[in-house]
Amino acid sequence: MIKNTVKELLISGQILQEVVLKGWVRTFRSNRFIALNDGSTIHNIQCVIDFENTSEETLKRITTGAAVCVKGTLLESQGKGQSLELQVLEIEILGDSNPDEYPIQPKKHSFEFLRENAHLRIRTNTFSAVMRVRSKLSFAVHKYFQDNGFNYVNTPIVTGSDAEGAGEMFRVTSFEDNKAPVTEDGKIDYTKDFFGKETNLTVSGQLEAEAYAMALGKVYTFGPTFRAENSNTTRHLAEFWMIEPEVAFMDLDGNMDLAEDFIKSVLTYVLEHCKDDLAFLDERFVQEEKAKPQLQRSEMSLLEKLKFVADNNFKRVSYTEAIDILRNSKPNKKKKFQYPINAWGADLQSEHERFLVEKHFKCPVILFDYPADIKAFYMRLNEDGKTVRAMDVLFPGIGEMVGGAQREERYDVLIAKMKAMHIDEKELWWYLDLRKFGTAVHSGFGLGFERLVQFTTGMGNIRDVIPFPRTPQNADF
Ligand code: 4AD
Ligand code: MG
Repeated sequence: MIKNTVKELLISGQILQEVVLKGWVRTFRSNRFIALNDGSTIHNIQCVIDFENTSEETLKRITTGAAVCVKGTLLESQGKGQSLELQVLEIEILGDSNPDEYPIQPKKHSFEFLRENAHLRIRTNTFSAVMRVRSKLSFAVHKYFQDNGFNYVNTPIVTGSDAEGAGEMFRVTSFEDNKAPVTEDGKIDYTKDFFGKETNLTVSGQLEAEAYAMALGKVYTFGPTFRAENSNTTRHLAEFWMIEPEVAFMDLDGNMDLAEDFIKSVLTYVLEHCKDDLAFLDERFVQEEKAKPQLQRSEMSLLEKLKFVADNNFKRVSYTEAIDILRNSKPNKKKKFQYPINAWGADLQSEHERFLVEKHFKCPVILFDYPADIKAFYMRLNEDGKTVRAMDVLFPGIGEMVGGAQREERYDVLIAKMKAMHIDEKELWWYLDLRKFGTAVHSGFGLGFERLVQFTTGMGNIRDVIPFPRTPQNADF
């Protein structure tokens, strides 16, 4: 007996004897035709039951969601809609699924409903396609860096430092409720805590990745990061996966080249290796767009968007140029922006980023040389003394996909900056050491993996591209 997956069988295109297949029933109609799916592909395989030789009791137990094992022969299909079908000689019910209770019916469910059933939603076409693409994308990420001489570094999840300085961290403690020891001035005494200091879940692996880049040359991280920001948007998660390359002897131009090449490469990889899933998601995307008002509709299909990004240059624009464009833009003059752009120095909101990308340039944009005041402490100060070598990659429909910078490698400049921004020098003594011993130009960036999956799959909400999303007021499953 050959044990197979639906994917292998459908690809084989052959007539095969003695096939054994295990999967879940998607639908069962006319007491005869099972649409069986085992997760290996978006496609179901049609299994034809010999109902005269199958007991009444077994037929009743073939319900949507049930796990079954079928044995039979793979033949050319007699019916329409598929080229091959399995003529079943023997069926075994491995696990029943009560049709009155099973939440995933063969009909369209809302994404809200499916989020409440995140443990079962992967059994729908949309979610299985998204999660297979997600898996291939993460492989493509590793492949890109490994093929290009980068070392994969696992940076700590528990840390004492706040890399972004935004204070949006989840505390890690082993103190019991109401039993935390306090110091003389009434504050919690973390010297008595598990790690002997205040610790939190990391917001970024960058600072540690820098240490590794200054020895291994080219490194990348790919791991979970945590942000306790109360952002209830379609682009924010409290727990998300970030990819952070860091490269010694590379300046900001090299950083922009790397980000662009990396994104194009992983998109090209999935276009090649996820054809069926992307074709399904493309169809879904097009239907979804049709339901929107004309003005909000995407001009391109999902596949067209992916190919467009993979094949065209990103536009590189300085923050100062971007501010000029925004200041003179129609929505700014007509006071359509919620946050009007008046002066140089303003932080860009997502409405401004989307205007630049979707209306003005109509392609991904890399903004660089931001005002020092609105960016993190570690970014390299420019000669003008007011801008830093920062870069953000902005994407249509997503906004910020990547945030990165050339790092401040000059000890004196860095320490002055840390003092001005009230960053604890004692906590980051080791980070300063990197500027004392063999310092060099270096750069890197962070890419939010879920935002990349969102763009690639055309899903509107970031909660639908991670298996079990963590967001404010929600950590179920
Ligand atoms: O721009 P951010 O905050 O940059 C950093 O953390 C740097 N230390 C990265 C580096 O230079 N190594 O975050 C990087 C990216 C963002 O561009 C965005 O794509 C994603 O991480 N991101 C989020 N994704 C989902 N949910 C959130 N709450 C996110 N916050 C940031
Ligand atoms: Mg950022």
